[in-house]
Amino acid sequence: MNIVITDDYAAMSRAAADVIASRIKEDPRCVLGLATGSTPIGLYAELVSDCNAGEISFGEVSTYNLDEYRGLAGDHEQSYRHFMQKHLFDLVDIDPAATHVPDGANDDAEAACWDYEQSIFEAGGIDLQLLGLGHNGHIGFNEPSDEFPVNTHLVKLHERTIEANSRLFDHIDEVPREAYTMGVGTIMHAAEILVVASGSDKAQIVYDAFFGPVTPQVPASILQLHPNVTVIVDEEAGALC
Ligand code: GLP
Repeated sequence: MNIVITDDYAAMSRAAADVIASRIKEDPRCVLGLATGSTPIGLYAELVSDCNAGEISFGEVSTYNLDEYRGLAGDHEQSYRHFMQKHLFDLVDIDPAATHVPDGANDDAEAACWDYEQSIFEAGGIDLQLLGLGHNGHIGFNEPSDEFPVNTHLVKLHERTIEANSRLFDHIDEVPREAYTMGVGTIMHAAEILVVASGSDKAQIVYDAFFGPVTPQVPASILQLHPNVTVIVDEEAGALC
């Protein structure tokens, strides 16, 4: 595991964008796994400016997002599909049909999850998976539990996650209680993984995830067993490393 500590959020964003941009340059047809949350916003802005400068093209890239709230259609302002359109897809030359986010509008959890997992498999798997870190160590929406969930599945969100994500909604009651998420197995199958974290409120979980025991109570800790992981954190998030 390669841990990089940068001076600040801007440097973290640029360093992470460099990893993704290099992958696109090496393999213009690569399959990227993408993440939402506040942390990757800066790196998406860097990729947009690389694309506008003609340094990279998303023309042949395909993408699979980690997760989506169950019950929110893609045009809902708080859906992760909407987030991705706003911060990346609408701003680069990507083929809309090559962008994938679990279908939050599909109430049939089994079908929604199976279709998504199948589609990743048919694409040949994920070449580079980007991850943020929840305060409780969740990756995607894989919350702490007694076992590592393998495939894309339906989750009930933990209270702390609902609280953390309520900042983006008008009222906490509007935050969906369930989501579809890639499983830990789906994530671990990616050929390469890039984790980003920023801010002092992530320092403890960065330490627990990457220096503590591997346990499903800290889902991100399983990344210690993956052969090709880069963790890029700013100084505050890396304070305990
Ligand atoms: C959400 C997402 C995660 C993300 C996490 C951290 O719960 N499902 O994929 O990593 O938030 O978000 P932030 O980067 O805003 O701290």
